[in-house]
Amino acid sequence: MPVLIVYGTKTGTSEKCAKYIADRLNEPVTLVNARDGIKIDLSPYNTVIIGGSVRMGHITAAVSKFVEEEEGELLTKRVALFLCCGFSDKENIDRQMEINYTPALKSHAIAYKCFGGELHADGSNKIDKFVAKMAFRADGDLDLTPEINYEAIDELINAVREDILTTA
Ligand SMILES: Cc1cc2nc3c(=O)[nH]c(=O)nc-3n(C[C@H](O)[C@H](O)[C@H](O)COP(=O)(O)O)c2cc1C
Repeated sequence: MPVLIVYGTKTGTSEKCAKYIADRLNEPVTLVNARDGIKIDLSPYNTVIIGGSVRMGHITAAVSKFVEEEEGELLTKRVALFLCCGFSDKENIDRQMEINYTPALKSHAIAYKCFGGELHADGSNKIDKFVAKMAFRADGDLDLTPEINYEAIDELINAVREDILTTA
C-alpha cells in the first residue's frame, strides 16, 4: 500500500523524523519535501502522513499551503499528522496543533503527534537562536534543549500500521 509523507523542514529535524517513519513503516513510501514546491498527485496514495516544524507558532508555510489546498481530498484518505517543536508542555503542544491543523483534519486523522524537536544552537545562526529563545519565553515551558521524542514517532507508526492492517 503506497504511503505518501509530505514534510516541511528548515534545519532537517522534520526530514529526519519523516525518514525514520519511512524506514520503519514496512510499506512503500514516497517522501516529499513540501518546500520543493512540486505539485503532488495524491491519487496513488491511500495513506498520507503530513508534518513539519513550528516556528513562531506556525508550521512550515509550504505544509500549511499543501493542507489548505488538498484538505478535501485528504479527508477521503487515511491521514496522520505530526509537528516538530520545541515546546514540551501539553498546553502549548495542543495549542500549536490547533493553530496548524483544522478541526476537520484533526478529527479525521488516525493519529496526530508532536515529535519534539532539536535546536541547532551551534552558534552558526545566532538570529535563529535568539528568535527561538523569544518564542519559547513568550509562552509556557522554556526548553532550549528539545529532543526528538522517538516514542511518539513509534506510536504514530504503530497507529498507521494497525489501521492499514485492519481496514485493508
Ligand atoms: C527561529 C525559531 C523559532 C521557533 N519557534 C518555535 C515555536 O514557536 N514553537 C515551538 O514549539 N518550537 C519553535 N522552534 C523550535 C523548532 O520547532 C525546532 O527547532 C524544530 O526541531 C525545527 O525543525 P526543522 O529542523 O524540521 O525545521 C523554533 C525554532 C527556531 C530556530
